[in-house]
Amino acid sequence: MAIKVLMVCLGNICRSPLAEGILQSKVDPAKVFVDSAGTGGYHIGSKPDSRSIAVGRKYDIDISHQRCRKFSVDDFDEFDMIYVMDLSNYGNVIALALNEHQKNKVKLLLDEVDSKTKEVPDPYYDDNGFEHVFHLIDNACTVIAKKMERI
Ligand code: 4NP
Repeated sequence: MAIKVLMVCLGNICRSPLAEGILQSKVDPAKVFVDSAGTGGYHIGSKPDSRSIAVGRKYDIDISHQRCRKFSVDDFDEFDMIYVMDLSNYGNVIALALNEHQKNKVKLLLDEVDSKTKEVPDPYYDDNGFEHVFHLIDNACTVIAKKMERI
């Protein structure tokens, strides 16, 4: 049975779609299933932000087929690990958890790396932020993928 990993941000159009595409590109799809969702419902059904699609494409990660969905309480049962991009996402997801077991599945993505910053910044209002965000996520996903090879 594949390990199931969910990447979560606020809008599910900028950061978590990249995290989904990047991690999926580094793992065996037969062993690891990756999805993403947003805690906000503003963009349900939309494609990822064009700036995320562009930076992904630059590094051979195609996320253009993804469609935005909202995080649901059922995701706690569906997924083994839930990675959030920032502390606000963490608070939003934890607030929906029904018990400690569910809370324990939730982790900041950058907790996986020795990073100065623990949050992947929201690039929505910053055209220049996407490249930085890509590399932060990419570094963390390399560590996660290596860990999963050992599971
Ligand atoms: P994301 O960025 O959480 O990385 O997808 C955002 C996208 C849209 C909005 C906020 C953040 N928004 O307010 O519409």
